[in-house]
Amino acid sequence: MKKVLLGMTVASMLLFANGYTQADRILDMQKMAQAMQDIQSGFFYNNADIVKVGVKDLKETIVKVRPTDEEVNNKDIYEKWLNNNLRMTNKIQKKIKKKAEDIEERFTDGDAVQALQAYSKISGQCMKCHVNLRKW
Ligand code: HEC
Repeated sequence: MKKVLLGMTVASMLLFANGYTQADRILDMQKMAQAMQDIQSGFFYNNADIVKVGVKDLKETIVKVRPTDEEVNNKDIYEKWLNNNLRMTNKIQKKIKKKAEDIEERFTDGDAVQALQAYSKISGQCMKCHVNLRKW
C-alpha cells in the first residue's frame, strides 16, 4: 500500500513538473502583444530592425504557450477539452511561427503589402484561440 501511495505521489509530482502557471501564460501573452506592437511600429516607421525584434520575440514566446499545469492535472473533467486544446494550440503555434518568418522575409525584401498580410493572418490566429478556446 505504501508503495502504491508513493508511486501515486511520484506520478502526480511528475504531472506537476512541467511548471507552466496561469501567471506564466499571461506574461507570455503580454510579451506577444508587445511583439505584435513592435512589428506594427516597424511597419509604420519603415524600420526592419524593429520588425525583426518583434518577430524574434513572437517566435520565441509562442512556442511556450500551452495549457497550464492546473489544466493538465484536471484530467478527469477536462481530458477531451484538453486534447482539443493541445491539438489546436500546436496548429496555431506552427502557423504563427511560419507567418512571423514570412513577415521578416517579405518586409526585408521590400514587400510591405505581403508582410502586412502575414501580420493580419497572425492576428487572426491569436483571435482564433481566444474565441474558440476562451470563448472570448
Ligand atoms: C493557444 C491559445 C492562445 C493563442 C494562440 C493566443 N492566446 Fe492570448 N490568451 C490565451 C489565453 C488562454 C489567455 C488568458 C490567459 C490566462 O488567463 O491564462 C490569453 C490572454 C491574452 C491576453 C491578455 C493577457 C492579460 O494581461 O490578461 C493578451 C494581450 C493576449 N492573450 C494576446 C495574444 C496575442 C497577441 C496572441 C497572438 C500572437 C495570442 N494571445 C495568442 C490563449 C491564446
